[in-house]
Amino acid sequence: MKWFNEGDRMRKLIAAQRAKRSPGRAHAGAGLNTLVLGGGGREYAIAWRLARCDSVNTIDVIPGNAAMSLFARTLDFPIDEGGRLEQHIAASFIDLVIVGPDELVASGIGNVLRRTGVTVVCPSREAAQLEWSKTFAKEALREAGVPTAAFRTFRDTQAARHALTDGPVVVKADGLAAGKGVVVARDRAEAEAALSSGAIGSGGVLLEEVLAGQEASLHALVDGETVVALPPSRDHKRVGDGDTGPNTGGMGACSPTRVLPDEEAQPLADRLIAPVARLLAERGTPYRGVLYAGLMKTADGWKVIEFNARFGDPEAQVILPRIGGDFGTLMQALGDGRLAAYTHTHPVRFSQRAYVDVALCAEGYPSLPRRGDPITIGDLPDDVWTFHAGSQRSPSGGFITAGGRVLHVVAQGDTPAHARDRAYVAAQRITWTGRFYRSDIAASEDRVQVTV
Ligand code: AMP
Ligand code: GLY
Repeated sequence: MKWFNEGDRMRKLIAAQRAKRSPGRAHAGAGLNTLVLGGGGREYAIAWRLARCDSVNTIDVIPGNAAMSLFARTLDFPIDEGGRLEQHIAASFIDLVIVGPDELVASGIGNVLRRTGVTVVCPSREAAQLEWSKTFAKEALREAGVPTAAFRTFRDTQAARHALTDGPVVVKADGLAAGKGVVVARDRAEAEAALSSGAIGSGGVLLEEVLAGQEASLHALVDGETVVALPPSRDHKRVGDGDTGPNTGGMGACSPTRVLPDEEAQPLADRLIAPVARLLAERGTPYRGVLYAGLMKTADGWKVIEFNARFGDPEAQVILPRIGGDFGTLMQALGDGRLAAYTHTHPVRFSQRAYVDVALCAEGYPSLPRRGDPITIGDLPDDVWTFHAGSQRSPSGGFITAGGRVLHVVAQGDTPAHARDRAYVAAQRITWTGRFYRSDIAASEDRVQVTV
């Protein structure tokens, strides 16, 4: 019976290794076969969170990145090519697909995948207009009676230029602009410069009232008229300390945040997100997926700045670790249209731990990042993870830089200040030529004690 003893030993060994890499999956048997679309830090966070679920059996990521392949299966093929994605879903018995990037959501991949019968977390192209058309979003906000900055829409930059007055104004391109396409102009000259610089593109334009206050990100799971708030967070969009320099995809994030405490998340989602969800449902284009509201706390109360039809990046890196319970079955319920019934028996609870994300970037980001530099990772403190976003395997076995935001240091702590200190200790121990990061992520969170 030696063979069986050996088998037992191997099983234990594998279970121990799995427990180390993916706690919660040590005894995974039959369960969900999942697929994550995208390959950056946000998708790393989604796959990492799935890896901590008893319900999850396998995790595929397309295209993923080299570091994700240490705990998930990454497949790099063009997903828009001749039904290959649908073939993969069928051949690998995929149960649940979660779509990460905004361009994919806007392309209508949610509609395509839903037709194949798989459970998909991604709004339809029609409902995702909340992100890919700012005019659509602003008109929906107005019709739903949700506070937002006053605005006017224009066919093109020429028409917008005629409407400029003296004083500050926000100039926005109507469509998706990858974090660009928004200029907060202090005066008419800056607004004119923005309109003629090409930054706003040649399509529709919005001019908006400038809102003053503090920003926070509020994500919610939206299934028709059901709206379930996720942990609030804050991101830091500008490249330099003290919010200076150009906008980026996001230089770091923190959850919880004193700007929008956890206990206010659901009431605020009920006030600012639910009316828009109801409106879309009444129009016959219900929203089903993750909705992310960028909010501003102004002297007149909270207002919606914009909507995104997906998880934020880097917000996902700090809010997903705080979502209690089984994230896999929660996402499955959302995709299946059973969110209200599921959360009735499994309410979403936020963990009491704080998480801080610091993006380590390549020299030149956000315009033209250097690539190909070897990454050295020293000893990291406990409760710190590296969520890779723009790295590749080097031929010699380590990792090299291959993008602007190369990797995110994600640290856990009892408070944001505690998590931040750990994140910065780790950030110093990860180096490559030209690596830089903001040194003030979560710096204003010091007074927070996590209470929920
Ligand atoms: P968006 O791409 O719409 O998220 O805008 C990018 C950033 O521009 C936001 O995070 C805000 O910091 C800023 N912004 C956008 N709209 C406004 C506004 N109406 N008032 C003040 N700041 C704004
Ligand atoms: N953190 C900003 C975004 O994901 O759009």
